[in-house]
Amino acid sequence: MKTSHSYPFFGPDGYDGLDALLQELAPSKTFLLVDSNTTHCLSVFVPKLGQLDAAFEVLEVPPGEESKSLEVAANLWSVLLEYGADRNSLIINVGGGVVCDLGAFIAATFKRGIPFVNVPTSLLAMVDASVGGKNGINFAGLKNQLGTFTQPNYVLIDPDFLTSLPQQEWESGHAEMLKHALLSGTNWAEALQLEPATLALYEIQQSVAFKAAIVREDFKETGKRKVLNLGHTTGHAWESYAAVSGNPCTHGAAVIQGLHVALLLSGLQDEQYALAKRYPWIKVEDDALTPLWERQLQDKKNTRGEVRYVLLEELGKPIWDVQITREQWTQAVSALNSAS
Ligand SMILES: NC(=O)c1ccc[n+]([C@@H]2O[C@H](COP(=O)([O-])OP(=O)(O)OC[C@H]3O[C@@H](n4cnc5c(N)ncnc54)[C@H](O)[C@@H]3O)[C@@H](O)[C@H]2O)c1
Repeated sequence: MKTSHSYPFFGPDGYDGLDALLQELAPSKTFLLVDSNTTHCLSVFVPKLGQLDAAFEVLEVPPGEESKSLEVAANLWSVLLEYGADRNSLIINVGGGVVCDLGAFIAATFKRGIPFVNVPTSLLAMVDASVGGKNGINFAGLKNQLGTFTQPNYVLIDPDFLTSLPQQEWESGHAEMLKHALLSGTNWAEALQLEPATLALYEIQQSVAFKAAIVREDFKETGKRKVLNLGHTTGHAWESYAAVSGNPCTHGAAVIQGLHVALLLSGLQDEQYALAKRYPWIKVEDDALTPLWERQLQDKKNTRGEVRYVLLEELGKPIWDVQITREQWTQAVSALNSAS
């Protein structure tokens, strides 16, 4: 078996493959990184792995975006050193996008990189964060400012974990599935109708396969991969502004706001109305306009201080690096505010 994969493995076959990888790597020490909401997933995960070293250590961080910080990262590096972790140690991230982003960053930087596995437990992490090799932590109040591009050695997707996922976190993952549907242009109407009780494994597979195919084409995001940022320019600004305003929202809820703006700027009114029926636009107050715009100026995708957007020429036809002025953005937000 190869020890570097960009595609996820699903369900029972996924456990067999992970067992085979554990046998091949024979890690000197295995660390399972969780947050306190995903610790319970270990009781499902651990018994299914015959090759997992019984002397594994569980590292638990508090749930939420605050754990993607330099302080938490430094603490984890210290703990790895205390346990004598070496370059043959393994980190298995069992959690949502925060645990996957954080654990991958820790692994990619510790002793210049040790193996790691992502086991996503939230829908968002299954269809997006666990796949693609981006990791990182937040810094100076801004999202994902420190990080690397490093592929996990393995990704295991087990939809059974979703049974304990709260509804708003499910919707957060749904937002990224909607993004993939808009970008691929294949199943937008169906994607809008998805519900937790009826979500099928093949729908997760379809969404993640779309992302994996883009990543294969452009791993380091020099071109086409930028399309995966659809909705994320306003989205990231909204997420970090909401956090500092004392009214935090999920990543996906912020992405929905961003998708509304991107659809309007793309001239795709019908799709924006359809999105609003399922997830209404949240009105932006006047005093939030400047801080939101300033956050977009910090976006990593910008060049020469200009704000760059991903837009759609039509469903399934994304374009990227589109310069958007403050005036255009403000007009779009005003139009959405008036219509809501
Ligand atoms: N690296 C990437 O390519 C990429 C892509 C998209 C998003 N992200 C990052 O992912 C993060 C968002 O991911 P997220 O929405 O999974 O956030 P998260 O990890 O904070 O999980 C959301 C909440 O659900 C809980 N949770 C997760 N799985 C659970 C389960 N099975 N049962 C009960 N509770 C569970 C978590 O403890 C948390 O409270 C953001 O930091 C974002 O920047 C990264």
